[in-house]
Amino acid sequence: MGGKMKKKKDRKLTPEEKEEKRIKKMRKRGKSDFVEVRGSEIHGRGVYCIEPIEKEQYFIEYVGNLIDKEESERRAWAQFEEHEKTGAAAVYIFNLTKKWDLDGNVEWNPARLINHSCEPNSEAIQDGKRIYLQALRDIEVDEEITFDYGFDVECYEDHPCRCGSSKCIGYIVGRDYHDELKRLLAAKKKQEKAP
Ligand SMILES: C[S@@+](CC[C@H](N)C(=O)[O-])C[C@H]1O[C@@H](n2cnc3c(N)ncnc32)[C@H](O)[C@@H]1O
Ligand SMILES: [Zn+2]
Repeated sequence: MGGKMKKKKDRKLTPEEKEEKRIKKMRKRGKSDFVEVRGSEIHGRGVYCIEPIEKEQYFIEYVGNLIDKEESERRAWAQFEEHEKTGAAAVYIFNLTKKWDLDGNVEWNPARLINHSCEPNSEAIQDGKRIYLQALRDIEVDEEITFDYGFDVECYEDHPCRCGSSKCIGYIVGRDYHDELKRLLAAKKKQEKAP
């Protein structure tokens, strides 16, 4: 009867090596053949289509670190303070489950550079504990990838929108809040006109 050789156990990885391995894996998951990062006409860096994307296609994963709600709350406050100081908006944390959130603010997540548009060509879709960007329509080569950040109307003036769409509402505010924003803007205009 043929006996089986016992495989020599691999050397135990150090915590640093484990982390390096994890990041390598995540970097691979966050890569996409459909897009690349370029200077954006909307703001700073953005993500552009380099291979035609079909409507409904998942074309890039939004990767990041899983964090529990307590840590998420702590980071959201830190990002809020950063916003108060520099005006940078906090748009990296996705709500995943009752217990977990996903913080995409890591250099190995190119999808974090996707800018907002009032007429976006993609949307973030959750699949279990993963987030993917899915095309809302066919996207052509050289088009900038955008999605709706979904910001509420609170502090809307802090986030002027430069998406360039003919449907631009002027501020980075989610579609669900557009009607409310229109009412606020009309009221403001009326007040400015009043003697
Ligand atoms: C997650 S970053 C997107 C990547 C960013 N362009 C960069 O270079 O870091 C979000 C920030 O980009 C800017 N941004 C995104 N969409 C924008 C838009 N439609 N109009 C103006 N600024 C935008 C805002 O400053 C926002 O806080
Ligand atoms: Zn806009």
